[in-house]
Amino acid sequence: MKKTRLMLALSMLLGGCYYDNEEELYPSPTTSGGDTTVVVKYSSDIEPLINQHCYGCHSAASYQAVGKVNLEGYANAKSAAQKPKFVQCVRWEQGCNMPPSGRLPADQLQKIERWISQNFPE
Ligand code: HEC
Repeated sequence: MKKTRLMLALSMLLGGCYYDNEEELYPSPTTSGGDTTVVVKYSSDIEPLINQHCYGCHSAASYQAVGKVNLEGYANAKSAAQKPKFVQCVRWEQGCNMPPSGRLPADQLQKIERWISQNFPE
């Protein structure tokens, strides 16, 4: 019991608050042209990003040799991104720095964060 509550508090602390906001999970269609509500899709936004920055070590062919996380394909990318560790890694937090060669540009990081908060549109 105690441990569960601690883990919950910890995960909220570490930024696990993506899923408790209905507004973020189901964003209303954009009316003003502001791009915070633009839907980020795996197929058009996330796959190319992961392909460019992560497949070197996390493709189906390469992940076993290197990082143990297969990020290739929608199902794999989604299940990895559902873990809080994923966004921590791309934010270079908690001792995990991905990609290791240098931080993602801010706009790409934002895409990942939006994709997660929008509940992983395919
Ligand atoms: C140069 C190789 C390389 C690239 C490129 C790379 N990674 Fe990794 N990744 C690793 C290695 C090695 C590990 C395992 C060791 C570690 O956690 O540092 C890892 C681990 C991870 C983990 C799991 C951490 C954990 O402890 O559970 C995640 C999530 C991750 N990477 C995401 C990404 C994402 C997203 C990208 C692209 C933006 C990326 N990585 C690019 C090498 C890489």
